[in-house]
Amino acid sequence: MNLLVTGAAGYIGASFSYEALKKGFRVYGCDNFINSDETNIKILENKFPNDFIFEKIDLSTELEKVKNFISNKQIECVIHFASLKSVEESEKIPNEYWRNNLDSTFNVLKAMEDEGLKALVFSSSASVYGQSKIQPLTEDTNLIPESTYGKTKLAIEFILKDLAEKSLINVASLRYFNPIGSHKDGLIVESISDNQSNIMPKIIRVALGVDKKFTVFGNDYETNDGTAERDYIHIEDLISGHLDAVKFILHSKGFIELNLGTGKKVSVLDLLKTFMAASRKEVPIEFSSRRAGDVPVCYADPTKSNKMISWKSKFGLKEMCEDSWRPFQNSDEFKGKS
Ligand SMILES: NC(=O)c1ccc[n+]([C@@H]2O[C@H](COP(=O)([O-])OP(=O)(O)OC[C@H]3O[C@@H](n4cnc5c(N)ncnc54)[C@H](O)[C@@H]3O)[C@@H](O)[C@H]2O)c1
Repeated sequence: MNLLVTGAAGYIGASFSYEALKKGFRVYGCDNFINSDETNIKILENKFPNDFIFEKIDLSTELEKVKNFISNKQIECVIHFASLKSVEESEKIPNEYWRNNLDSTFNVLKAMEDEGLKALVFSSSASVYGQSKIQPLTEDTNLIPESTYGKTKLAIEFILKDLAEKSLINVASLRYFNPIGSHKDGLIVESISDNQSNIMPKIIRVALGVDKKFTVFGNDYETNDGTAERDYIHIEDLISGHLDAVKFILHSKGFIELNLGTGKKVSVLDLLKTFMAASRKEVPIEFSSRRAGDVPVCYADPTKSNKMISWKSKFGLKEMCEDSWRPFQNSDEFKGKS
């Protein structure tokens, strides 16, 4: 079966492509490298020379290129990962987040329409929930995103839902909690370049001595230890959720939103403690004030995903930390890389 994967050079898009290729799918991948480079693409092209086909495309501006790329390729499902994804950055350049994330989605939808393609799996985010007092979060929780990033994800869900209600597309919108870790095969590794906004690359940079201190934003939240609590999920669990969602949406109609999280909340300090035990590295920290757009607590009720797509997470925090650190154990290889 043939798939279109947007954002294929990124952390999750490349991890998904790798697993899908291993399972025998043919993957048409595209990316414009705005938040990635060619590393993952080269790995996938070398390992799967016949079944991974890549083109550099800016989805937000190059509609004709997208159309040509997928024309007559018998693609059955689109997995739309491409997006700008930093909560912090979205507060600084909101216009660019709206433009990139929405325009990319419109162009993907237009190309799908021209090709008569209906099945879509969308990368949404737990940030659509915002600051809810009711935790864990079910998919029915009120949607009041705090950040511009979260608002772009919610706006896209709205558009997709409307089109699905009019029977134009069928969509599984996956609300990810906090994916961490690298693939166990060690081929696709989360980038630790200095523009990465996710927590684990920042922790690893300090463990390697690339950065001096890890900044904990906020230690005055109403949580057990005052730091923000999140639902971290192993990248491999997240990817298996996508494969289950692809299977599901190919035989379903309409729009479904699904949480991909473990259902367990972990504070920033707990994460650091587990990481330091797993890596046997010190990670010096400093506390700073809360970040705009951040919420105190955010963790999933994954019951709906368990039921609807028969998906369950398998890995615990210790394994997430071990698998995050493993590719960087030989620190010399990465020292100074940024
Ligand atoms: N990593 C997380 O913590 C997390 C959490 C929730 C949701 N998500 C969502 O998952 C998806 C993938 O996230 P990721 O962590 O792999 O991020 P990433 O930045 O590593 O990957 C996203 C990829 O999309 C590409 N891209 C962005 N705009 C593009 C455009 N206009 N045209 C072509 N390519 C474009 C980037 O270059 C990048 O390679 C994103 O939609 C993100 O919002 C991620």
